[in-house]
Amino acid sequence: MSVNKEIKRVTTHVLQAMKAEGQKIAMLTAYDYSMAKLIDGGDVDVILVGDSASNVMAGHETTLPITLDQMIYHASSVVRAVRRALVVVDLPFGSYQGNSKLALESAIRIMKEAGAHAVKLEGGAEVADSIKRILKAGIPVMGHLGLIPQSIYKFGTYTVRAKEETEADKLREDALLLQELGCFAIVLEKIPAGLATEVTQSLYIPTIGIGAGGGTDGQVLVSHDMLGITMDFTPRFLRRYLNLAETIQDAVRHYTQDVKSRDFPNEQEQY
Ligand code: KIV
Repeated sequence: MSVNKEIKRVTTHVLQAMKAEGQKIAMLTAYDYSMAKLIDGGDVDVILVGDSASNVMAGHETTLPITLDQMIYHASSVVRAVRRALVVVDLPFGSYQGNSKLALESAIRIMKEAGAHAVKLEGGAEVADSIKRILKAGIPVMGHLGLIPQSIYKFGTYTVRAKEETEADKLREDALLLQELGCFAIVLEKIPAGLATEVTQSLYIPTIGIGAGGGTDGQVLVSHDMLGITMDFTPRFLRRYLNLAETIQDAVRHYTQDVKSRDFPNEQEQY
């Protein structure tokens, strides 16, 4: 008799039920098939194909250069690997700001060509028209407030946002607006923990924090940072669970020595 082990997929409704039941949500990034398979196998709830691929995968200084075609390539690789997690894909810089028709076209390409389950975009009132139009087409939208890296040249630095009352007030209003428009969740990046907790308590949709303290409904980290693959990024909020950079480099050195000393391949490792 074969045992049918059906995997229950995480949906946007599951995430909202998790908030209602006080269960925390775990989200991590992935940009390729192999890593997405490992991360999905680790029972994470949401996999974000973040535009941080621009930094992590392509070595750019900011997230601005990554294109919609490149995001679709990364996202389709991830979707092919994932069996359980909800796959959310970032709309890249220039694919949704200031033009709701373009925003809808970009979101449709991500859903159709990559097979994504939802899109994420940065900002509040400024992008409300784009959010409305995407939601009207039946595409779930995750918001992103606080430090929004696509606006880095406006901010000038990657330091904590919304420490001043005016910016905190705008963030409170934007969070309520995103909920009212119909976003299913909001990422809160690098804002004071007290403000993140307050915003989380004011909403019925879940918040996912990064550098926003423990009061949010979930947490997100860039996988390459938490696995210790990227070693030059050391913000206070980052917890490293592995030092893969060292492990990988040790293995590569070992292999190189084995090749040079003619130890590899041996009799068993050839035909
Ligand atoms: O692109 C990304 O990885 C993100 C997370 C840091 C939230 O937006």
